[in-house]
Amino acid sequence: MESKLIPTLNNMGWMAASIGDPYTQDFIEYSATVAKPVMEIGAAYGVAAASILQSGGRIIVNDLEPYHLQVLYEQTPLHLREKLHILPGSCIDGIDMDDESVSSILCARVFHFFDSATIAKCLENFYRWLVPGGKLFIVADSVFHGMNQEIYPDFLDRKASGHPTPGWVSLKNNPRLEAQENKAEIQRAMPEYFNFIDIETLGSLFNAAGFRIERASYFRPEYYYDVSLWDGREGVGMIGVKALPQFSSV
Ligand SMILES: C[S@@+](CC[C@H](N)C(=O)[O-])C[C@H]1O[C@@H](n2cnc3c(N)ncnc32)[C@H](O)[C@@H]1O
Repeated sequence: MESKLIPTLNNMGWMAASIGDPYTQDFIEYSATVAKPVMEIGAAYGVAAASILQSGGRIIVNDLEPYHLQVLYEQTPLHLREKLHILPGSCIDGIDMDDESVSSILCARVFHFFDSATIAKCLENFYRWLVPGGKLFIVADSVFHGMNQEIYPDFLDRKASGHPTPGWVSLKNNPRLEAQENKAEIQRAMPEYFNFIDIETLGSLFNAAGFRIERASYFRPEYYYDVSLWDGREGVGMIGVKALPQFSSV
């Protein structure tokens, strides 16, 4: 698993070894056009941070595991370190950021560890931290992830019955995982519960938090191996825009 994916130190899955989805790429391109610092959340050792720093941007990089961020800091060339701010802690309730202090936020491959209520709490934080007009880029594992293929009908049932997190499953006894030779290794490296996210559920959460959805799609991630693949829609991405203030005319 080690060439496209780098294991995290806190058993929170793997970090993509290179940029392998269109939304992270869009975040990097958009971030080159903005005035305030940008932010990468749940970054592990930093997926987008190096590109942002190399193109002259300022970035705040967050992760739950402080040692990931220490590695990023040490790997960053000395002359770029003044533009890198590392911020360990939970993006749910463990970090302090000023309101309207960042122009864009990337949170890649973190929301699939959270249920909808936790995602809503994060979106509330991200909305506050973004400047008006600022953009949020989310990447997550989708309902069409390989580990959800054999149990997809259960997702449809939960969705039809109005479950708030229809993609929420335990990976214990997951049929796709059970068929892997290295299933013990994979299971050790991930939390037990997973949220395979669909566009509709994520879109409702974006709208409820106040974001206008600029773009959303499923995509095939370049960083996955067979165990994660199904039909080319294994990843989900969404870009949200925080509304500009309304001015009423007199
Ligand atoms: C699967 S890795 C994704 C890393 C990287 N963003 C990527 O796209 O490859 C998930 C990362 O999210 C971090 N994480 C999990 N829960 C978090 C939280 N509540 N706040 C901040 N980071 C969190 C983990 O520490 C881990 O580094």
